[in-house]
Amino acid sequence: MVRPNGPLICKGDTDITLQNADGALILKDKEFALCRCGLSRNKPFCDGTHKIQGVQATQAFSDQQEEDINGTVADLTIVVKPHSMYSVQGPVTIFSRDGLSKTTRTKSSLCRCGHSGNKPFCDGAHNRYDFTE
Ligand code: FES
Repeated sequence: MVRPNGPLICKGDTDITLQNADGALILKDKEFALCRCGLSRNKPFCDGTHKIQGVQATQAFSDQQEEDINGTVADLTIVVKPHSMYSVQGPVTIFSRDGLSKTTRTKSSLCRCGHSGNKPFCDGAHNRYDFTE
């Protein structure tokens, strides 16, 4: 769930795997909050810094692709890419907190630098802003 001006709330019926690009496990859990403003001091997790900094990040999005994920048995894995996005692999529904935006798919790239012009998706802006993490 994309929270307005806040993190990505990740919830699964089963454990979601969060790992580094080299495959090292960061966490396996049914619920956690990922930073999407790029300001957390505890990346990739949200530490509430967005509130202190007054981050403005819409929860709405227009890419509302609907992929049939019925029968997809793979677990959900989120890979934290160095200096760039979260690479989401596996059946996932991404939705805004108000429920007005929603997409279901098996792959997605989500912004974690806070600079994308197409939030919550990555649009490559992390390169222009020299995001290092
Ligand atoms: S991670 Fe923010 S634009 Fe790619």
